[in-house]
Amino acid sequence: MSPSSRLEGISEYYFSQKLREIAKLNAEGKNIINLGIGSPDLPPQPDVIKVLQEESAKPNVHGYQGYKGVPELRNAFASWYRKWYNVTLDPESEILPLIGSKEGIMHICMTYLNNGDLALVPDPGYPTYSSAVKLSGGDCISYELKQENNWQPDFAAIENNLTGKVKLMFVNYPQMPTGQLPDQQLFENIIAFGKKHNILIVHDNPYSFILNDKPMSILSVDGAMDIAVELNSLSKSHNMAGWRVGVLCGAKEKIDNVLRFKSNMDSGMFLPVQLAAAKALQLGKDWHDQLNKTYAARKKLVTGLLEAINCKVAPHQAGLFVWASIPPSYKDCYELSDEILYGTNVFITPGGIFGKAGERYVRVSLCCTEEKLKQATDRLQKIKA
Ligand SMILES: Cc1ncc(COP(=O)(O)O)c(C=O)c1O
Repeated sequence: MSPSSRLEGISEYYFSQKLREIAKLNAEGKNIINLGIGSPDLPPQPDVIKVLQEESAKPNVHGYQGYKGVPELRNAFASWYRKWYNVTLDPESEILPLIGSKEGIMHICMTYLNNGDLALVPDPGYPTYSSAVKLSGGDCISYELKQENNWQPDFAAIENNLTGKVKLMFVNYPQMPTGQLPDQQLFENIIAFGKKHNILIVHDNPYSFILNDKPMSILSVDGAMDIAVELNSLSKSHNMAGWRVGVLCGAKEKIDNVLRFKSNMDSGMFLPVQLAAAKALQLGKDWHDQLNKTYAARKKLVTGLLEAINCKVAPHQAGLFVWASIPPSYKDCYELSDEILYGTNVFITPGGIFGKAGERYVRVSLCCTEEKLKQATDRLQKIKA
């Protein structure tokens, strides 16, 4: 039975394949240190787990839930946006809880793209943007982010390349994989560009709390709600990646449109997960501070690890990864990543999987204990770059 033509040009998600390869190497006794994926290794805050435990012991919480999330969760998201981002959202109509922000990316594409519609996706960027565009029938125009432009879009270059009508644009700051932080001017420029060309701006914001003491939302820009929506997530900020809790925020009409699609795809999240997520959203600065203290210590070690193989790390990166350029002696990132994997049993992500512009970079995850990072650095000393 052949798969649908929709799947042509779509390969299995890189990490889905790579984790299988790593599992195989481990089964052969290799003991790979995996510094690839950004899945927090630390647990959620204990009170959050307690809510999940207590709520799931109740007899009447196991049924289907509504499609828009319970009011407790939507209210908690609204208070969170007000407190941290200074953005006021109506919990009834401008907030849609998601089963992780990844599904939201697909829902948005399915909601807005017709066959052949164009979508702007960042290069380097999260690979799901382009897969979701293609799966929903759209075509991608990738816009290159360059280190010399602080990994910000070059709007003049994008305008010069526009061949047809672009319907939506994915943006993501703090940017993955480069770690580039946003500033107010950048967000204003993005919104102005969206308005000028009538392009729906989809800002993906899962990293704003990691190694960043000024979380920002693109929705804080005046008039942003007219043209932009924002995805957010508890996966990274609250160590809840496996719980699958995200959110889409935006104007009522856009939330309603996405809900038309989403409510045909899945049903509401398990109620105790929603209530525990609401608890997580109430956590204060002390939670983020202690988490960031751990990541800051790890980042120092990862920087040392990368320097041991002559990679160059740019300063001021936010998010769960360190992004670094590779030495000129390597043909590309794949050569370096494979040499490290097969020569020292350490996996680091080749930057090229995030797009062509990432081919001379690698990405190392901070989701790994200091002990393992030291062990990985010892192993990498073997490599002569
Ligand atoms: C840029 C970016 N967006 C979205 C996601 C998906 O996050 P979630 O766990 O909320 O689906 C990730 C996960 O790695 C990511 O790096």
